[in-house]
Amino acid sequence: MAPSTISIVIFSLLLFSSYSNAQTTPSKKPEAFTFPIKKDDTTNQYYTNIQFGSNSTKLNVVIDLGGNFLWFNSEDYLNAASTFHPIPCGTRKCRIAEAIGCTFCFLKPAQPGCTNNTCSDYSLNPFSGTSGYSGLGEDTLRLRSARGGNVYAVDDFPFQYAHDAMLEGLAGPASGVIALGRTRISLQAQLASAFKIREKFTLCVPPAGGDGNLIVGETAYSKPFEEISKSLVTTRLVRNPVGLLGIDLIGNFSREYYIDVKSIKVGSKTLSLNKTLLSINKKDGSGGTTIRTVRHYTGLSKSIYRVLVKEFAKAAESKNITRVASVAPFGACFDSKTVLSSKTGPRVPTIDLVMEKKSVYWRFYGSNSMVKVSKDVICLAFVEGTINVSGQTTSIEVGGYQMENHLLEFDVASSKLGFSSSLLLHGTSCSNFGAS
Ligand SMILES: *[C@@H]1O[C@H](CO)[C@@H](O)[C@H](O)[C@H]1NC(C)=O
Ligand SMILES: *[C@@H]1O[C@H](CO)[C@@H](O)[C@H](O)[C@H]1NC(C)=O
Ligand SMILES: *[C@@H]1O[C@H](CO)[C@@H](O)[C@H](O)[C@H]1NC(C)=O
Ligand SMILES: *[C@@H]1O[C@H](CO)[C@@H](O)[C@H](O)[C@H]1NC(C)=O
Ligand SMILES: *[C@@H]1O[C@H](CO)[C@@H](O)[C@H](O)[C@H]1NC(C)=O
Repeated sequence: MAPSTISIVIFSLLLFSSYSNAQTTPSKKPEAFTFPIKKDDTTNQYYTNIQFGSNSTKLNVVIDLGGNFLWFNSEDYLNAASTFHPIPCGTRKCRIAEAIGCTFCFLKPAQPGCTNNTCSDYSLNPFSGTSGYSGLGEDTLRLRSARGGNVYAVDDFPFQYAHDAMLEGLAGPASGVIALGRTRISLQAQLASAFKIREKFTLCVPPAGGDGNLIVGETAYSKPFEEISKSLVTTRLVRNPVGLLGIDLIGNFSREYYIDVKSIKVGSKTLSLNKTLLSINKKDGSGGTTIRTVRHYTGLSKSIYRVLVKEFAKAAESKNITRVASVAPFGACFDSKTVLSSKTGPRVPTIDLVMEKKSVYWRFYGSNSMVKVSKDVICLAFVEGTINVSGQTTSIEVGGYQMENHLLEFDVASSKLGFSSSLLLHGTSCSNFGAS
């Protein structure tokens, strides 16, 4: 054995002893973790379930791709928060959190959300726009490995115990938000550092009624996902140099994931768009394309939306699809009796987001581009405007509806996004996505 191999072995043994203190003590270093996803039918939010704190309180938390850190409010957790500890101001962990302030709170006994000399920052509810300033703390996150389903624990997972007013606008079953943003205290960043795995996650969000999965780390997938994951198209994840949230000054980089969309096609026709809007304005951070789980239908700035609706309606009419009166918030609706169906949903013109090369495009078929609004009416599932609580002026915000039944692999470590074509084309769906 070469000396370097020995030191790696010793190093991993040391690491192992520092994290593996869960009841079930698995024998191997985990590669990846699994977080099942459900969609709330009322709010169209996607959430997962985590186990947190000394009593492994089960919490449903909404998935926010652009979020900074985990936050929640839960009486059940408070009643059993014996392993909670605050992150003191001025510590290394506080710097990692890039938190903006320090809270002095003198409640006796101290409790999560009110502890003295505590590293503090704003949490953001991405639906209501409410933000809440309070201290950050740490507690035990229990999680399951993607293969074998063994339970592991991270003792010092950072989060914020938020005020209950922060829950307004969240899906009924949810008591907080889990963050997957480009920060050092988001879920994948923390698991990458605790378990020395790659900072990477694969997201498969389900349509209403289905199940999906989030896998953090790298592992072999079940069939046919192993093959699908080998044939992903990849594009660069780009960074917006300007933090767009009023409270988001993290190195002035946005936490959101941006992709570099160069053009949009309807069928084979490239839309004639103002290219300035497609790129990020480096001065004010406007423009560009983000991917956001916290909005349902893809939002487009007004001028892009108008061109899309016009060309889509034209292409649909040439397929003898009858346009009917629009139903808000949608700008183009059709008589579903005039639309044929296919395994990828209503047979309508495809919509492509084209990236750095002609061959790099994300294609939406009917199941992702059309939504049924009444018995005989389906509408183009894109909306005007980036009506956004943070006052963002991003030109394209790809929403959850368009992501459904696609495998999206965010390789944060190398700043790349890999995406599959619609899983329906492969005869499968997110409900089947998991590790082998
Ligand atoms: C811990 O969890 C169990 C099961 O959920 C519950 O019965 C018990 O009351 C909890 N303990 C505390 C201190 O909240
Ligand atoms: C709160 O923390 C500050 C800074 O460490 C300290 O000076 C002060 O005495 C503490 N107050 C209480 C009530 O513990
Ligand atoms: C970050 O943004 C703030 C507010 O817009 C600005 O004052 C500051 O100069 C920026 N810092 C860097 C490093 O760009
Ligand atoms: C394109 O968009 C930019 C940014 O909104 C705007 O300043 C410019 O006037 C637009 N160009 C045209 C030709 O509409
Ligand atoms: C549309 O309808 C016209 C008139 O009935 C017919 O000639 C044409 O072939 C149809 N086109 C398609 C694409 O079905």
